[in-house]
Amino acid sequence: MKASDSAPAPGFWTRRQLARCHSVADLRRCARRRMPRVAFDYLDGGAEDETTLARNREAFDGFELVPRALVDVGKVELATTVLGQRIALPLVLAPCGLIRLIHTGGEAAAARAAHRAGTVHVLSTVGSTSIEELAREAPGPLWYQVYVWKDRGLLRGFLERARASGYRALCLTVDSPVPGRRERDLRGRTDPPGLTLGTALDTLRHPRWLLDWLRGPAIGLPNVLPERAGDLGALGRIASASLDPTVTWADLEWMVAQWDGPFVLKGVLRAEDARRAVDCGVAAVVVSNHGGRQLDRVPPTLDVLPGIVEAVGDRAEVLLDSGVRRGSDVVKALALGARACLVGRSYLYGLGAGGEAGVDRALALLRAELARTLALLGCPSVADLDASWLRRRTPAGGAR
Ligand code: GLV
Repeated sequence: MKASDSAPAPGFWTRRQLARCHSVADLRRCARRRMPRVAFDYLDGGAEDETTLARNREAFDGFELVPRALVDVGKVELATTVLGQRIALPLVLAPCGLIRLIHTGGEAAAARAAHRAGTVHVLSTVGSTSIEELAREAPGPLWYQVYVWKDRGLLRGFLERARASGYRALCLTVDSPVPGRRERDLRGRTDPPGLTLGTALDTLRHPRWLLDWLRGPAIGLPNVLPERAGDLGALGRIASASLDPTVTWADLEWMVAQWDGPFVLKGVLRAEDARRAVDCGVAAVVVSNHGGRQLDRVPPTLDVLPGIVEAVGDRAEVLLDSGVRRGSDVVKALALGARACLVGRSYLYGLGAGGEAGVDRALALLRAELARTLALLGCPSVADLDASWLRRRTPAGGAR
């Protein structure tokens, strides 16, 4: 049996906890209990007033699903393709930073779970596993996400290393010329991280997380600062100062030309930007507000999706993330023209709740919700979704 065929069996208690989780919201509650506040807030929080974080959810709630009666849904098809590759369900695991802070299984656990679910994991530049180690640990498919570092030599290195390790696509995130201000992290002292009496006592109250942390390898950013593992305070400061805020369309053109595979641009909220990205040769755009973690008070992604889909037409694929917590959210995004969704927190809550088996649980729940939603809608395939399955809800309940 290959390492990726099943997750390492969790202990009795974790198995029991995971079995009692019937939604991503349940996994979130479980992760919150298991993790110290500093780590949970890093995962759960958004920028400033967390307005966009909340509105991402409100946007999904702003649509109702309108079923068709008496349709044969004996077989419901969830598979689709992204960038020409078949995936078993229209969900991709988004690039997320420092995943080992949530559970030491980290990116490898998430990527193996993605493989078992038949989909893609995207490794972040600020991931806590190296490009090469992840490629060894997880069968893929894998994409690599880049932030542009001031040190352009490092950037060229990312491209070469990702290519040499067999990453299929490169994904440039463009919503982060500077780091967003996540005030929960400041209050919880993860940014810059430091041990206060309060965080130490809180961590002692989460012994399973603490043991996992103590037994695991030192956490760091091996792709960008391999020599600083364990020094989370310095890492946060150096990484923030290393982001290059001068990146422009010329850099995108250069990067697309350097990368001889599919190129994805993530963090687009304007139709004209999506159109321009396609003119530069990208194969897909991700409509994303970084899960409400960068600029607060930007629009929810679902609201701007239709305009971007229209602008891009059939010249590139449009993916969406930020706020996807239910199979029905995926259905709504696909009905409005997305090809697939990326999920970040939804699988990280699973990781926090139960390590690799928790990511399996998160993906299994989302898959089951997606299949059930389509069946109850009377829609036999994700390929049949369009806006005719949705109705906009007004606060008073009337149609808009
Ligand atoms: C990293 O991309 C983060 O949002 O923390």
